Amino acid sequence: MIEKTITISYKVYSTINELPEEDRELALNAIRATDNAYAPYSNFKVGAAVRMSNGRIFCGNNQENAAYPSGMCAERVAIYYAQSLFPKLSIKAIAIVAKKDGSVTNSVTYPCAACRQVMLEAQQRCGKPIKVIMIGDCKIEVVESIDALIPFSFNNLLVD
Ligand code: THU
Repeated sequence: MIEKTITISYKVYSTINELPEEDRELALNAIRATDNAYAPYSNFKVGAAVRMSNGRIFCGNNQENAAYPSGMCAERVAIYYAQSLFPKLSIKAIAIVAKKDGSVTNSVTYPCAACRQVMLEAQQRCGKPIKVIMIGDCKIEVVESIDALIPFSFNNLLVD
């Protein structure tokens, strides 16, 4: 038996003003996107913004439904929207944030496991890392690639 350890590295910022300009712009777009979330069941309004390799930004927000599983997370709304219009472009970065009772949550909003899986495949499609910017009110955490958030991922394309 051998025991192995996986480590991840991530950056921590205390305000979005500290982020590099492009990431700050993306974060502001994600925050703005929370306003159009449809979240009457959870009252948890999530916003996501995706930057494409051509510089365009696409936003999404969570869309809930009375039949709960029919809803969709903000990240997937944004990613699928972007990919539906620009299937050949790579996604450079995604910013994620949530508001509760009108304010950005204190805790950082991390993408759910299903969204991580979708981000992973988006990254594999273009072969370039997707930076993930996860936002809380006084803390922003950034990983340079989705790989950091989903070790031991499912990928039937790579099974031999
Ligand atoms: N949600 C997202 O939009 N993104 C995530 O990564 C996790 C959860 C949404 C789904 C649901 O509308 C609400 O947040 C509460 O779970």
